[in-house]
Amino acid sequence: MNFSLTEEHEMIRQAARDFAQNECKPGVIERDTHMTFPKEQVKKLGELGFLGMMVPQEYGGAGLDTLSYAIAMEEISKIDASTSVAMSVNNSLVCYGLEAFGTEEQKRKYLVPLAKGEILGAFCLSEPEAGSDATSQKTTAIDKGDHYLLNGTKNWITNGGSASVYLVIAQTDIAKGHRGINVLIVEKGMPGFEVAKKEDKLGIRASDTHTLLFSDVKVPKENRIGEDGFGFKFAMKTLSGGRIGIAAQALGIAAGAYEMAAAYAQQRKAFGKEIIHHQAVAFKLADMATRIEAARLLVYKAARIKDAGGNYDQASAMAKVFASETAMWVTTEAVQIHGGYGYVKEYHVERLMRDAKITQIYEGTSEVQRIVISRGVLA
Ligand code: CAA
Repeated sequence: MNFSLTEEHEMIRQAARDFAQNECKPGVIERDTHMTFPKEQVKKLGELGFLGMMVPQEYGGAGLDTLSYAIAMEEISKIDASTSVAMSVNNSLVCYGLEAFGTEEQKRKYLVPLAKGEILGAFCLSEPEAGSDATSQKTTAIDKGDHYLLNGTKNWITNGGSASVYLVIAQTDIAKGHRGINVLIVEKGMPGFEVAKKEDKLGIRASDTHTLLFSDVKVPKENRIGEDGFGFKFAMKTLSGGRIGIAAQALGIAAGAYEMAAAYAQQRKAFGKEIIHHQAVAFKLADMATRIEAARLLVYKAARIKDAGGNYDQASAMAKVFASETAMWVTTEAVQIHGGYGYVKEYHVERLMRDAKITQIYEGTSEVQRIVISRGVLA
């Protein structure tokens, strides 16, 4: 597989790196402490075309490939994973879902403003009792002829308070199991739709994670995406691509922590020399660099398969499980290399360690990724 990056990929990397340094880094610690959503940063991401990166230009997007998106996610996540998760959900769950499976009217009405970054989207699958077991949806969308009546609760919804458009997965016909599930486009402000509790989280604290309540929300029939009963497959197909974005986020968190640890080790002295000259530290950095490179190859490979039109289910699951476990391990080692300084906010690595944990949980836990991979192995 060819991983040589084009000039365009390198330009995107540089643009994302500059954005992260100039726009995300200032105030990142304060936003994390106070759980302040990076509204200005997300707005600017939209203006730069980072919120609809893979959407064709005719629908307001940047018309780039998945590899470009992964590179941008990697660079922004080195500095600010709270901003990058908002970007990831908008790109790979909401925009992709609408572009791949929406009607022309749905694309014109919703995809265009989402891809331009004029509004933000959210993807609503998880429920109090349906996380990994995504077929057990309790939220119901009852068919009432010209509309669906939506009732239920969604949990842990990224962009929950900031979005304008929500893709909501719900059960229409329980007797049909996963084939009775639909996906509906819900707009903020529809009567009966309420943005509820904001979560106080361990990591990605500046991202906007909410519980959502639906009480007799009338959703017009034309807001269903795909055929009746397509909702579960829609979720699976969309999440498969989303996992490339989260794998790239994990890769970026790991790479950011590694860069900070390597820089620190070259200036911090102990026992008469810079600590990088002690093998205990040098070997740690060697292992960190090696695992990060392996994660990068898996992420880029999954992106390349998607861009080539192949089946990327297994590749994206492999990339996500490996990159997220790498992120957790590398950030923990980065804190260790920093010693006491690593444990305080000012040095950033403790935040990256907290942020790393969620990459092993959302868009499918590490256990879910192993289910997907093992099914591919058995097939
Ligand atoms: N593409 C197309 N179809 C797929 C598919 C895919 N990738 N994966 C499964 N399907 C189809 C199957 O073919 C099957 O259809 P048929 O019966 O017609 O053949 C149907 O879907 C059911 O599949 P399974 O039997 O494999 O389903 P399962 O109940 O065993 O579940 C699972 C499998 C992999 C565990 C799945 O439930 C899953 O991925 N769970 C995790 C959900 C998840 O990622 N949640 C994250 C929430 S979103 C989020 O985090 C966003 C955020 O805010 C950041």
